[in-house]
Amino acid sequence: MTDARIAKLYGRKVWDSRGRPTVEVEVRLTDGAVGRAIAPAGASTGRGEALDLRDGGSRFGGLDVQRAVRSVNDEIAPALKDHDASDQAAVDRLLVDLDGTTDRGRLGGNAIVATSMAVLHAAAASADQPLWLHLAGAHPVRIPLPEIQIFGGGAHADRRVDVQDFMVVCPAARSFSEALDWTAEIYRAAGGLMRKAGKTGGVADEGGFWPAFDSNEEALETLTLAIEAAGFRPSAQVGISLDIAASQFGSADKYRLALDNRALDTGALIDMLGRWIDDYPILAIEDPLGEDDHAGMVEFTRRYGDRCQVIGDDYLVTNAGRVAVAAADGAANAVLIKPNQAGTITEALTALRAGRAAGFGTIVSARSGESEDVTVAHLSVGWDAGQLKVGSFTRSERMAKWNEVLRIEEALGTAAEFSGWSAFPFAAPASATTSS
Ligand code: PGA
Ligand code: ZN
Repeated sequence: MTDARIAKLYGRKVWDSRGRPTVEVEVRLTDGAVGRAIAPAGASTGRGEALDLRDGGSRFGGLDVQRAVRSVNDEIAPALKDHDASDQAAVDRLLVDLDGTTDRGRLGGNAIVATSMAVLHAAAASADQPLWLHLAGAHPVRIPLPEIQIFGGGAHADRRVDVQDFMVVCPAARSFSEALDWTAEIYRAAGGLMRKAGKTGGVADEGGFWPAFDSNEEALETLTLAIEAAGFRPSAQVGISLDIAASQFGSADKYRLALDNRALDTGALIDMLGRWIDDYPILAIEDPLGEDDHAGMVEFTRRYGDRCQVIGDDYLVTNAGRVAVAAADGAANAVLIKPNQAGTITEALTALRAGRAAGFGTIVSARSGESEDVTVAHLSVGWDAGQLKVGSFTRSERMAKWNEVLRIEEALGTAAEFSGWSAFPFAAPASATTSS
């Protein structure tokens, strides 16, 4: 047992991928080990999320984090001094108790999650292990199936299309590196199709194409064509994963699709998404209904959960209690795991375990505001989540995470098992088991 006590802990302001201030925490242990982590930030946030502390006022549009940095240096650092860094659960409990609020609004969710992650990194460094291995211990792990954004919309692209993320998943790939190879070809093919049609409008927040489509269906059509143009069989080899982020354009029985200029009730939205599932190679849909539309989630999962992964993000906010309720009612069959949504590493792991206990798919996820921090890549492997979502296939705050998983896959060598179809909470379609 090494002497892994917290000797020094401090916070600083750094900048995220949207050019906004965020919190970085650095921890030094008594044995010299160091850990460092940067808080990410969401744009389409769920109501039940841990709250980031922002300064308000006019500086940086009110988004400065001086108060959150002070939380780290003035309150968190003295409270954690001499604490055992290898006892993550105790560190996180102390952070939660010190904050004393349910929404983490006093010290700031950004201050708390950066501290929680930095301590985790320091403990791994103290054990002289890469983070994923420190987390996995003796448990077998799989390399996650990546969900990779090709088109960005919704709140991340001025609502140019209603749907927030049009992603691809490559469950028939034999490895993570092969899944990235396939995605790179699809991304190129999609770009080519869009240029030809004069539909490229720029880059969305997570790096995907910001498409000038006339309808949500046109985006689905183009993505399906791109999968085929790159030489893959839709559904059998490569599927589409959508983040509808429905809370961004409505709530129970009142949804407004800006692009199509249509208002929909819950039943009509479910019917429309159902038509998309029938017509396009869709394997996963996140937040198909608003975060308050529990009955809609139950109905959607009942109708499509046997062939589509139904993911709760804003709906479940990485909360173990909400996952348990959704599991009991059949209101989803997968949960997105965002550490900063839960508040701490321990709470995120608890939510993931609740999902696993319910037979849910589990997807570790980054946020739309990111940085060079690659913690989520390690969590997805070390916790054997099976899936990882970090945005597009461009821009270094995204590629840093994909590239980190490539390194982990290489380190695992022949022991690296790619999750592929096993990541989903439903059986692979028959077409996926017949060779082309
Ligand atoms: P956010 O978006 O990070 O802006 O919340 C990501 C998502 O909705 O999955
Ligand atoms: Zn989402």
